[in-house]
Amino acid sequence: MDSRVGGVVSIKVAMLGCGTVGAEVVRLLHEQAGDLAARVGGSIELAGIAVRRPNRHPDVPADLLTTDAAGLVASDVDIVVEVIGGIEPARSLLTDALRAGKSVVTANKALLAEHAADLFAAAGSAGADLYFEAAVAGAIPLLRPLRESLAGDRITRVMGIVNGTTNYVLSEMDASGAGYAETLDEASRLGYAEADPTADVEGYDAASKAAILASIAFHTRVTAADVYREGITAVTPADIAAARTLGRTIKLLAICERVNGGPDSAAGEAVAVRVHPAMIPRGHPLATVGGAFNAVFVEADAAGSLMFYGQGAGGSPTASAVLGDLVAVARNKVVGGRGPGESSYAALPVRPIAQVDTRYHISLDVADRPGVLASVATVFAEHGVSIAAVRQQGRSADASLVIVTHSAPDAALRSTVDKIAGLAVVHEVVSVMRVEGEEP
Ligand code: HSE
Repeated sequence: MDSRVGGVVSIKVAMLGCGTVGAEVVRLLHEQAGDLAARVGGSIELAGIAVRRPNRHPDVPADLLTTDAAGLVASDVDIVVEVIGGIEPARSLLTDALRAGKSVVTANKALLAEHAADLFAAAGSAGADLYFEAAVAGAIPLLRPLRESLAGDRITRVMGIVNGTTNYVLSEMDASGAGYAETLDEASRLGYAEADPTADVEGYDAASKAAILASIAFHTRVTAADVYREGITAVTPADIAAARTLGRTIKLLAICERVNGGPDSAAGEAVAVRVHPAMIPRGHPLATVGGAFNAVFVEADAAGSLMFYGQGAGGSPTASAVLGDLVAVARNKVVGGRGPGESSYAALPVRPIAQVDTRYHISLDVADRPGVLASVATVFAEHGVSIAAVRQQGRSADASLVIVTHSAPDAALRSTVDKIAGLAVVHEVVSVMRVEGEEP
């Protein structure tokens, strides 16, 4: 436990992992030791760093490195910082730490999105803290504002760009008109995408972050499995061109919303959480978020709209969030208090995407002859989907037909598209994309 050296409290920290983020945490802990001690009211002492291959960390003091992560967690440390990522061994190590009353700071979104309830339970029964600001949107202070600053408000929506890799790829596709695969290759070559970009491009990373955001915003347990997820691998140059024609751009959005009505809630209220590419107006603040940046909109009853923007990944930005948590947790240790625990009292049901109201943009190549527009419009009417705008442009033998709908249940919109695709007068469904950020 925290010890006093010459009357000064010393907080001992174990670090698990020492990759890009961990190395920055070590550097900043060393460089800012004096300031951090003054802010905490006691010195932060790095007691050890658990890594798999000690010879790969020449910049870190060799006497701090160990391959025995479990031994380090069990040693006389007050706080465990985890930057390994993935479910195991992080889950077991952090559970052991929390059960032993050691507070935890982690950047592990996948772990929090699946096992937050168990980790909070372990923390709660041992009186320890569990902080994870770095798990969502890197440097951007987002979880603490949701958890603490907005604790007195009623959050209705959280919508944003929470994955830098996909935002970079979509921004580049928009700028160049190039296809997805070649743009991803270029992003990998330039170091903007991981060697294995699956978690990013398939939307798993954003879905984990959405689950964490929704859990906090709506005081409800939401796991990654509750999140509807579509990545960006199917976004085509035709989608980008269609968006551009309509004054829109395409972003991978994480959308967490409070929804009313529906069959699954006696109280009529539920939450819906989804990650998918969407067209947004080029004038929307999220449309101007380019490259590897993240940005998140929060809407709350009393506060109105708030926007958070900044670097969502990278060693230094993520280390900033880790250190912020470390200072907060260390302060709690010094004064003998605790930060907020899990808040899941609302326990709202999670609404499946099929029942969530969305809007679609649909771009079709159709035969250009009398009655075609009417036959397409009939399918919308049959599915109870109201059309907001139609644009038709004749070419030689066929025509381009662009339809934007009003809000309707996603299942009805999908069935509409499926039925339209089977019409003899429809030559090709060129682009189908959800529309966000406006309601005509
Ligand atoms: N791979 C993530 C991104 C950063 O591209 O934004 C870590 O969550």
